[in-house]
Amino acid sequence: MATQTNTTNLKTPLQNLEEWEDFLKERYPEVPEKTGAFNPGKKKEEFRNYEATARPTVREFYRLNHRYQTFDFVQSKKREFLSLDRRKMGIWEAMEFLNTLVDDSDPDTDFSQLEHLLQTAEQIRKDRHPRWFILTGLIHDLGKILCLFGEPQWAVVGDTFPVGCAWSEQIVFHGFFADNPDSREPRYQTRLGVYEEGRGLDQVQISWGHDEYLYQVVKDYLPEEARYMVRYHSFYPAHREGAYTYLMNDGDKAMFKWVRAFNPYDLYTKSHERPNVSELRPFYEELIAEYFPAQLRW
Ligand SMILES: [Fe+2]
Ligand SMILES: [Fe+2]
Repeated sequence: MATQTNTTNLKTPLQNLEEWEDFLKERYPEVPEKTGAFNPGKKKEEFRNYEATARPTVREFYRLNHRYQTFDFVQSKKREFLSLDRRKMGIWEAMEFLNTLVDDSDPDTDFSQLEHLLQTAEQIRKDRHPRWFILTGLIHDLGKILCLFGEPQWAVVGDTFPVGCAWSEQIVFHGFFADNPDSREPRYQTRLGVYEEGRGLDQVQISWGHDEYLYQVVKDYLPEEARYMVRYHSFYPAHREGAYTYLMNDGDKAMFKWVRAFNPYDLYTKSHERPNVSELRPFYEELIAEYFPAQLRW
């Protein structure tokens, strides 16, 4: 990494996107209770321990993420990307496009983006979940194509969190928020900030990344449970730590059961054998066609 310029490091502090996901697995080594309950809030000291032992690349990634994800930044990225006029692609085409994302990962031990999507979907299928659930596993990370549009890693991946109100202590590397300009905006620093109690997450601006982008691309075609899984799968402060329930309405609280049901498939299905892409493709093409038009706007 020493040979990279500062500009490159601002965009790609991580060697690859998996470094963030590996860090999640260190923090959440266990599958949450099958009952749908989530881990009780971690103690502050536990978080501080993960922070202390994190790789320097991961630390730098969170420093940039927490520094630059402001309320205004989220609005500007929505204006920039949510007109969805960059490309027209079908789901499988988007999977292949995402797979062109080259990083420093070792091809012998790391799985490609396409393989991660297929593995996630296959595990959901093996557990005999509904077809829309399998499909959600297949597509959930397609928003990472933002990287291929030149977006920095910290604006594509990372645990997401609301902007426009106080940052929960349950967010990892909370200390880095001291450098975020919103920390000097009193209206953004109260418990509710610019929001109303229990009004619902749909009203809340969440830090920008692959979840919200993909949600906007696919929202017209999927059942509500699937839409929640796509939109909030990186919202670890809420779905694994139980933070921010005061911003949720009753519908959100009920739907988060599905976000929690999805999370183990995302985090823990990576270490199995390589999926046979050409063998699996016909099944998934049929599943895609059941829900999606041949082309979507990205
Ligand atoms: Fe993701
Ligand atoms: Fe994922």
